[in-house]
Amino acid sequence: MLDVLNQELIHKGDEPVAFESDCREGICGTCGLVVNGLPHGPMPGACTCQLHMRTFKDGDTIYIEPFRAKGFPIIKDLVVDRSHFDRIIQAGGFVSTRTGSAGEANAILVSKDVADLAMDAAECIGCGACVASCPNGASALFMSAKVSQLALLPQGHPERARRVLAMVDAAEQGGFGACSNHRECEAVCPKQISINFIARMNREYARAIFCDAGNQGGKREGSKRSGE
Ligand code: SF4
Ligand code: FES
Repeated sequence: MLDVLNQELIHKGDEPVAFESDCREGICGTCGLVVNGLPHGPMPGACTCQLHMRTFKDGDTIYIEPFRAKGFPIIKDLVVDRSHFDRIIQAGGFVSTRTGSAGEANAILVSKDVADLAMDAAECIGCGACVASCPNGASALFMSAKVSQLALLPQGHPERARRVLAMVDAAEQGGFGACSNHRECEAVCPKQISINFIARMNREYARAIFCDAGNQGGKREGSKRSGE
């Protein structure tokens, strides 16, 4: 519908409305908008690009706004800068591996329940609706999905302490707030990521502070988020 609107604006010689989209099938996380006051609009478990006009009644007025959060500065119209999410991923949302031929697939066995849980976390598409819905502008649900996805699998274990500490630090530097369990993030998440993953991330964080940092003989100053 925004394409239709922009076609009309262009035909009239007006400037089109700037907005972002890419896959238009709910998998890339590019298209976040606030529709009628809700990040991604009123349809549960769907991205903005999956929100069809049949969701609304004839004659409805639809209010569209950009995501609003300190960590997502507005660039223009409906486009926000979500590069702080990239910096959180760059800080630790990966597994370091040596290049070379792929290992034998069955060399490290993963039980089905653990694999399923890791895949639930891996469904996060980095859209940022969780941040936009949170009164604290927290990125906890996004971070927790990434931290949990990697911490659950054996390949992610060696870097788990460094990862969670670095990602939480990057979130603080990006201007995201701390989680205070409002659960708005879970309600608007198009992939229905559970806040149980936030609890898992908090345990990872505590483990990193109290166990791994101690084992390394070093002390790390507590983060503002140490209550998480
Ligand atoms: S946790 Fe959900 S709302 Fe947050 S970035 Fe991931 S998919 Fe989007
Ligand atoms: S455009 Fe890719 S998720 Fe909406």
